[in-house]
Amino acid sequence: MSSPQKVALIGANGQLGSDIVSYFSDCDRYQLTALTRADIDITNPENVHQVLTSQKFDVVINSAAYVRVDDCEQEFNTAFNVNAIGAMHIARACRELDALCVYISTDYVFRGDRADPYTEADMPDPINIYGTSKLTGEYLVKQTAARSLILRISSVFGKAGASGKGGNFVETMLKKAKAGDPIKVVNDIFMSPTYTYDVARLLDALLQADATGIIHGANTGSCSWHQFASQVLSLAQIDHPIEPIPASAFPTKATRPMNSALISDRLADLTTFKMRPWQEAIAAYIQAR
Ligand SMILES: NC(=O)c1ccc[n+]([C@@H]2O[C@H](COP(=O)([O-])OP(=O)(O)OC[C@H]3O[C@@H](n4cnc5c(N)ncnc54)[C@H](OP(=O)(O)O)[C@@H]3O)[C@@H](O)[C@H]2O)c1
Repeated sequence: MSSPQKVALIGANGQLGSDIVSYFSDCDRYQLTALTRADIDITNPENVHQVLTSQKFDVVINSAAYVRVDDCEQEFNTAFNVNAIGAMHIARACRELDALCVYISTDYVFRGDRADPYTEADMPDPINIYGTSKLTGEYLVKQTAARSLILRISSVFGKAGASGKGGNFVETMLKKAKAGDPIKVVNDIFMSPTYTYDVARLLDALLQADATGIIHGANTGSCSWHQFASQVLSLAQIDHPIEPIPASAFPTKATRPMNSALISDRLADLTTFKMRPWQEAIAAYIQAR
């Protein structure tokens, strides 16, 4: 058997990072170094260089981000420092190490004004600061690292809950329904809900396939946030009304794409691993929690 790949994971106690830690730690294929913000500050170039070049990593996965979409509109310095410049510091160290640089990106790089889901071939055109900072991160990583993999995911839910957002949508719906609180959810914004555990499994498959470039890694299919919430309560066997509302009734600081559903034209050519439909992913999450 070949020796395990040395993988550094940045953002290790985030929502996605936690599932990458648990999945990769159980895999003989990898020797994982899990880095939290206490171990590395990606906005500090000297710190990034010192931590990442202290070992001969084969792969560096950057799952760290500033994900508070509405706050990004005011906190744009932080958004760009973490999501773009920070990503470049990591890519620079990867180039020095000749390591694969994996950048986790988002459906919010797209405008979202059309009915079809977005493929890897579609032109990004973000409509808020968060999306713009993440797209800039993609460009900087692609230009700086010798080898990079940009994995776009969307509307994620995972056991840890997004630390930057204080939880996840599934848990928020379950909590409100159990408390008997009224629930209103937008029914005219569409996306592809994605389970972080499935993203961890996909990353494993992509590393085994030596994949590079941009890949869309959402669970398959798409739905409105109202359909997402209804599916959660139905699978949890909770009978509770969810009032559908238009996005216009729920104004936010950042404009959201109306349809940012993702689909992949590349995955099937790279690996036999398939992302499951979003409904099955929610069922798996509810069973595992
Ligand atoms: N959440 C979503 O719905 C969503 C959708 C599409 C794409 N994504 C992408 O998926 C990835 C993971 O998101 P997530 O939901 O797991 O977010 P998360 O739970 O907020 O995790 C982000 C992690 O980044 C760390 N971090 C922030 N600033 C840092 C810095 N300067 N140096 C080092 N670490 C730093 C955070 O540490 P602290 O906890 O200590 O702050 C946190 O552990 C991100 O790239 C995000 O853009 C997320």
